[in-house]
Amino acid sequence: FKILVLNGPNLNLLGQREPELYGKQSLDDIADSLGAIAKQHATALDFRQSNAEHQLIDWIQQAAKDSVDYIVINPAAYAHTSVALRDALLAVKIPFIEVHLSNIYRRESFRHHSYLADVADGVICGLGARGYEYALQAALTTLNNTDN
Ligand code: DQA
Repeated sequence: FKILVLNGPNLNLLGQREPELYGKQSLDDIADSLGAIAKQHATALDFRQSNAEHQLIDWIQQAAKDSVDYIVINPAAYAHTSVALRDALLAVKIPFIEVHLSNIYRRESFRHHSYLADVADGVICGLGARGYEYALQAALTTLNNTDN
């Protein structure tokens, strides 16, 4: 399978950025642990981060051309603002899971709404970096159950 993991703005600062909220692991640490899981499952994993909305949208559009099977996305603040990211995911029809490190429902009310959540297969939030691992495992389970 081909799985794309996308990370939105400011997630390049993980580890240094508000560690009490987002944990001490860097984005590279998360990429490494997901890479290890993907390797065990002989799955191709592409792990990316951008601070730019248009870049994330371009990657989602390209994912369709590259026959990506599943997307795991932490849209970061774009979850709360981006109709364009929602539209891109709907356009390519690639199933996806939305991940947030922090529990967005325990935080400011402007973080309680996500433009992606109702069109996602599932949403994981509040479990820190482990949330990405659970999302990847769920994606692999779904793909294994549907493809053969
Ligand atoms: C976040 C939650 C968002 O509200 C915030 O803007 C982020 C990170 C998280 O992973 O907890 O940048 O997506």
